[in-house]
Amino acid sequence: MTLPGSPFLSRRNGALELDGLALQALAERFGTPLYVYSRAAILDALSRYQRALAGRRHLLCYAMKANSNLAVLQTFVAAGCGFDIVSGGELERVLAAGGRADRVVFSGVGKTRAEMRQALQAGVRCFNVESESELRRLSEVATGADATATVSLRVNPDVDAGTHPYISTGLRDNKFGIAHDRAVAAYRLAASLPGLRVAGIDCHIGSQITQVAPFLDALDRILDLVEEVERAGIEVHHIDLGGGLGITYTDESPPHADELVAQMLARMDARGHGRRELLLEPGRSLVGNAGVLLTEVLYLKPGPTKNFCIVDAAMNDLVRPTLYDAWMAIEPLQQRASATQRWDVVGPVCESGDWLGRERELALAEGDFLAVLSAGAYGMAMASNYNTRPRPAEVMIAGGEATLIRTRESVGALFSNERLLVSGP
Ligand code: LLP
Repeated sequence: MTLPGSPFLSRRNGALELDGLALQALAERFGTPLYVYSRAAILDALSRYQRALAGRRHLLCYAMKANSNLAVLQTFVAAGCGFDIVSGGELERVLAAGGRADRVVFSGVGKTRAEMRQALQAGVRCFNVESESELRRLSEVATGADATATVSLRVNPDVDAGTHPYISTGLRDNKFGIAHDRAVAAYRLAASLPGLRVAGIDCHIGSQITQVAPFLDALDRILDLVEEVERAGIEVHHIDLGGGLGITYTDESPPHADELVAQMLARMDARGHGRRELLLEPGRSLVGNAGVLLTEVLYLKPGPTKNFCIVDAAMNDLVRPTLYDAWMAIEPLQQRASATQRWDVVGPVCESGDWLGRERELALAEGDFLAVLSAGAYGMAMASNYNTRPRPAEVMIAGGEATLIRTRESVGALFSNERLLVSGP
């Protein structure tokens, strides 16, 4: 049978393996719920981008919001990547993982003064600015700190990425970016404000995009603007096309990163922009298929209309299914010969929305382990402590060995910042 997603995932004698290691043994050794990632799978995904960009002026900035574990970041640092960050906290993570601030681009619609100061002090490469108000604020903070902020303006190209509305960001109605028809005015403002240096232009049109066309449409709109801005006498050194390339969760067939990038570069060449530096901010396509979430079957609860398989992972550990109605494959770690039945795979959280998969054909017994596939992106990164559930541990497989890269949270740590009222019980 074929497993959606990673070529690093396979079955041997019925046992599910990631990068050659039996996942059942990892579930038993580290406990569940457990996120497991393959470093080789991450590097393999990265190499497709790197191959296509070889010989071109470029910087790959991993969008670390997808998975910000320090060991994951370290993997990208070692591979020479930069990072796309969206908070001061993410900047601290980059530095803690040994990353260089001068390879960091700082995105996001709501940067605070404190975050701007922190990023200026660290020396980030570029602020991706999303509004005229933010330009003024950044100018004020930079001049106050006697610093110069390098800026790129995020423009909203108004193209339909054809993805889920919650993760579509390049439409006129979205909160992101500067409207296309305001962009030249915003560049003039940026060029006139003290403490700012204009360096680039950027866009990000959405996530889990499975077609090439929206990316090329956005690129065309961006190149039109670059030409217009440069005619106004403002130089635009780099183009940052954001992230957004989708992965296979079930039967999607997104373009491979190297095909997509080759087409982007060809379009840039064709329009005479071949020598301009290209930045990209991929997240999901680098880590999504490199990770799985392991969980144990606690109870089987067959019913008159539905059968429930209650597992020890829940919506707090992996919110994508219920938040986006996202379909993620669920596979037993050890296949059974018995007949399959149709199950809703649900967690222990007290909400009917707490499900990981619905109507899945599985042969199961209590005590079995399951894997939710393609969970390396926006899995642990979006986990919460709802129901006072400690977040899962994380393991990375590298060089044939499994290493614990984040211990399971302790319950005590969850309320260690809380205080009882002095009047007492
Ligand atoms: N750059 C910017 C400015 C972004 O906002 C994002 C993602 C990326 C890059 C990376 O996009 P990617 O290559 O990962 O598609 N939690 C949602 C996805 C939210 C994406 C937010 N922005 C999910 O689980 O589907």
